[in-house]
Amino acid sequence: MEKKITIAIDGFSSTGKSTVAKGLAKKLGYVYVDTGAMYRAVTLYMMRKLFVSNTNLNEEAIVRHLPFIGLKFIFSEEAGFGEMYLNDERVEKEIRYMEVSEQVSKVAAIPQVRKKLVEQQQEMGKEKGVVMDGRDIGTVVFPDAELKIFMTASTEKRAQRRYDELRERGDEVAYDAVLKNVKDRDFMDSTREDSPLIKADDAVEFDNSELNLEEQFDKILKIVEDRISE
Ligand code: DC
Repeated sequence: MEKKITIAIDGFSSTGKSTVAKGLAKKLGYVYVDTGAMYRAVTLYMMRKLFVSNTNLNEEAIVRHLPFIGLKFIFSEEAGFGEMYLNDERVEKEIRYMEVSEQVSKVAAIPQVRKKLVEQQQEMGKEKGVVMDGRDIGTVVFPDAELKIFMTASTEKRAQRRYDELRERGDEVAYDAVLKNVKDRDFMDSTREDSPLIKADDAVEFDNSELNLEEQFDKILKIVEDRISE
């Protein structure tokens, strides 16, 4: 039988990591784990709990509420991947709202939040045969992953992709607001103290600014197949 490996895909927001990761998982019969969805679900929970009770989204309150959060992915035949559930409620749609995007980097910077989620991610990937995307997969979650890919693309390209995606979903967002959010998150995610977004030394850097989805996928699949057969 073909050997199973761990594939870590990291990079800035809206670089198309999840599209590539989902495609690879499907092609290889691997499990796909969207770690950004986990940070988003924690953020959604905190926004509902703490904004409603008029408490700020402060670190102490967030840490206090952490034990009450249950996260799991449930595979959906229709979607073709595991969808995010927060305490048994499907939240795939809610976690992508702009309001959540605006708060998530703050929540993801809290060490206790990261510790809890990293442990779950390590558990989910322990059997290998997993494609996991995020910001710290190749550096912290699976530093021994057989293949690490670091995706990049220009800020404007990424904002445009995100904007198109949100508009398609019916969100009335302005391009400038999306661009600002992409820049703010890049800054916060790469300058936070705990597990900042950085390229692992042994990651393959992949700039997809000028590639369409098919070209991207073909190139990455080739890298993966070479790595599996090594
Ligand atoms: O991949 P995404 O844009 O859905 O991720 C949402 C946020 O979660 C992102 O701004 C940073 C954070 N994140 C993180 O800190 N570590 C990860 N492994 C994944 C996401």
